[in-house]
Amino acid sequence: MLPCQRHLFDIPDGVAYLNCAYMSPLMKSALEAGTAGLARKAYPWELTPDKFFTGSDEFRATAARLLDCPADCVAIVPSASYGIATAARNLPVKKGQSVLVLAEQFPSNYYPWQRRVEETGAALKVVAWPEDNDWTAAVLNSLTADVAIAALPHVQWTSGGRLDLVRIGGACREIGAALVLDLTQSLGALPFSVRDVQPDFAVAASYKWLLGPYSIGLLYVAPKWQEGVPLEENWIQRANAEDFSSLILYTDDYDAGARRFDMGERSNFALLPAAVRAMKQILEWNVAEISETAGALNRQLAAAAAELGFSSPPDHLRAPHYLCLRRATSIPRELPEMLAREKVFVSVRGSSIRVAPHVYNSATDGERLIACLKQMANLSR
Ligand SMILES: Cc1ncc(COP(=O)(O)O)c(C=O)c1O
Repeated sequence: MLPCQRHLFDIPDGVAYLNCAYMSPLMKSALEAGTAGLARKAYPWELTPDKFFTGSDEFRATAARLLDCPADCVAIVPSASYGIATAARNLPVKKGQSVLVLAEQFPSNYYPWQRRVEETGAALKVVAWPEDNDWTAAVLNSLTADVAIAALPHVQWTSGGRLDLVRIGGACREIGAALVLDLTQSLGALPFSVRDVQPDFAVAASYKWLLGPYSIGLLYVAPKWQEGVPLEENWIQRANAEDFSSLILYTDDYDAGARRFDMGERSNFALLPAAVRAMKQILEWNVAEISETAGALNRQLAAAAAELGFSSPPDHLRAPHYLCLRRATSIPRELPEMLAREKVFVSVRGSSIRVAPHVYNSATDGERLIACLKQMANLSR
């Protein structure tokens, strides 16, 4: 368990921010790194060609430590959707086969597959919401011979349900299905290892649990797909891009590993240093410790909320950092206003409240949320 790290963030005392699944706050040090990076553009004569490569290399190396893979397997992307689109462009699927997704899967990991199956005559196969909250069993039951691609998250984003990706990865290999992962709601807060899961592609946007800025993310590409076709063709993905004087000596060769999948203008001087600073801090804290720390607060909140009529998936089936509290009846209209007045930030959707704490939260933040839920319970009596 980590002691509260709020001092590293600029969160006012009166704010109980329990909404990392929406967007994390930027650490003061990440903001400084990003601001310094942006300022470099004021002095372009100092931005020598080598700087187009050093920042990207550091991002790749740091991301690789979080993913547990070689740095060469990491591409720099602007969003989760970009990474999923890259996977969809490169993975084979044909008529008679299917692409597996979860019920209520996040759109960025749904629409690209919808288009892909439309184009190929394949089918989309949707894992139904499991009554017992066991998403792993539901996925394993759905992994039949027709599945060519399983496009999944580590955490189902509307329930907090956790998937056992090591088992699912093994089952995919048994039937020869490719595994594509959207780790946006988990990487940095839930232990994950490419080595153990062996996905074909795995993407994460940086602005949630990687505590980074918006519009930057990482994409793991397994070695067997590194000869694939990128979404964009740009100068920096190609071999010998370091030599600015010979860029128009066009070449068919790409730079090594997953670099061919890098987005255009990947050497973002403002975003990359901020993202790297945040990932380094996560590595220093240790992902298992982050998970344990956020998980301890969520367990307390789940127990207190249960007394007020909320249910949540059992601890062993949900991600510790991600708690979705549901009520049989809809949530009173007054709740969002009450939460805003008390400066308690969570996501309220239909009959569900999503609570997503991080290491900057204290027990007091949790108590303030429960106080609002108690007031709400009194209102609905
Ligand atoms: C599961 C999941 N994936 C991806 C994203 C973000 O997708 P994109 O980077 O394509 O905007 C979100 C944002 O809420 C998400 O919850």
